[in-house]
This record gives sequence, structure tokens and C-alpha cells, in this order.
Amino acid sequence: MKSILFVCLGNICRSPIAHGIANKIARKNDLLLHIDSAGTSKWHIGEAPCENSVKIAKMNDIDISDLKARTIHPKDSEIFNYIVAMDKQNKNDLISLGCENVFLLGDYGGFGGVDVPDPYHFQTFSGFEKVYNMIDVCVRDFLKKEKLWC
Ligand code: 4NP
Repeated sequence: MKSILFVCLGNICRSPIAHGIANKIARKNDLLLHIDSAGTSKWHIGEAPCENSVKIAKMNDIDISDLKARTIHPKDSEIFNYIVAMDKQNKNDLISLGCENVFLLGDYGGFGGVDVPDPYHFQTFSGFEKVYNMIDVCVRDFLKKEKLWC
């Protein structure tokens, strides 16, 4: 079984959305994938995803309300085949921790390697809708390009 770990800073906004989307695709298409998410910081350990991420996921029939934030562990690099960062800062932090199999989500979906914007400080829900749509396109393309979804 192949495994994917989605990583952002807090593990409460972006990576739980990617985690939920990938899980839904895997279940729907009988893909044998182990999917998880984590943050590079320790700031929100044990917390559920932020309200707006839960809301936008729910609007798309995905329940992420029971996820709990955790921090990245260097051993994750040995456990997961793919560690997928939401932005370049996350990617650099993961590489500094010694992770080798690190990918940037924005390198997929035709976004040209841009960061998934950090929605934590967004004042509006529409910011979360944009982030959700970007993550959805990128995760689908990532699964296809890496031949995890044929
Ligand atoms: P995330 O968003 O990395 O997408 O989970 C953030 C969550 C919390 C903070 C920053 C970004 N924070 O500064 O606490």
C-alpha cells in the first residue's frame, strides 16, 4: 500500500482539506492508499481543523471534523512514500528536518509551482473556497501523475 502525508504549517486549515479530499477519492475509487496529514509547527496539536475548513469540506460532502492536528516527525519520511507540502516554506522546513521524499502540491494541477495560500488569517469564507478548489485540482492531478489513481 502506498502512503501520502499532506503537510502545512498548523495542520488545521490546508492539509486537513487535502487529507479529506484524497481520502474521499481513495474510498470512491477503491484505491489502496494510506493518507494522513501533519503540521510543521506544534501550535495546534490535538485541535480539530478550523471551522471554515470543516465547512467548505462539508459543502463538498467530506467530513474532516474528527481529524486532530499533529506535528511532523522525522520518522514520517520513512513511513510515507510521499510527503506533500502546501507551500515552499513547509517544503524547506521538511527538508531541514531530513525528509527526502518531499513534493510541492502547487507543482501539480497546472499551477506552476505556486504556494497554496495560507488561509488562516483570511477574513472571508471565499478565501477558503478558493483554497479548497486549488487543493482539489492539485490533489487529483498529483494522484494521476504519480500513478496512484489510474
Ligand atoms: P495551515 O494554516 O498551515 O493551513 O493549518 C495555519 C494555521 C495556523 C497558523 C498559521 C497557519 N498559526 O499561525 O497559528
